[in-house]
Amino acid sequence: MRTSAVATGLFAAAAYATSAPTCEGPPCMTAAQAQTVATNFGDLISAYSTANAEAYLTADYTDYSSSVNTLIDYGCPAGPVPLDAPTFTSRAAFIQGQGSQPDIPFNQENLWYTCDTVFIRWSTTVAPGSPETVTGIIAAETVYNATAAFPFQIQTVYSEFNSGAWLVDLGVFKPTCPPPPPPKNKRSVGSNLPARMA
Ligand SMILES: *[C@@H]1O[C@H](CO)[C@@H](O)[C@H](O)[C@H]1NC(C)=O
Repeated sequence: MRTSAVATGLFAAAAYATSAPTCEGPPCMTAAQAQTVATNFGDLISAYSTANAEAYLTADYTDYSSSVNTLIDYGCPAGPVPLDAPTFTSRAAFIQGQGSQPDIPFNQENLWYTCDTVFIRWSTTVAPGSPETVTGIIAAETVYNATAAFPFQIQTVYSEFNSGAWLVDLGVFKPTCPPPPPPKNKRSVGSNLPARMA
């Protein structure tokens, strides 16, 4: 009996050992995988497609951007979107919102990453000839899904950018700019000249 109990115990332990999860968590992303995450997110800004949104983002994707909320609100304090509210609370909402936006360039300026998060500094031109370049920083948290085509799926994005410059580019915000200084001329010595020499 005792032997059999021990044997049973050993067998159970062995079965447990083969079926128990290991202590290893999901793998850390490599530099190449971090770049893929950045490129994928950039694609959704510069060459949007719903198929790509479904391939790159988790279904519970959430996007926080008070900068985007500012644009949606046209800078108006009364909203409609509170600045601290999430911009999109699902992939479906992103598809509905981002999918209707014109594509704009996504220029990656810097990239940093951890095991599961990618940080991108980027710049864009809202429209050809826009007076002001817009620069922003994105933190994109991912979850690992070994069976997905892109295993580091973007789940949460925190994205802020220069919405002031963006509103100038849209013509929504018209800055009051000082007049340009008069052209400098070697012979001009300022306003102290006698009137006859001016
Ligand atoms: C992982 O990816 C597969 C293939 O795209 C998908 O069917 C599945 O729903 C994903 N799992 C989770 C938890 O998102």
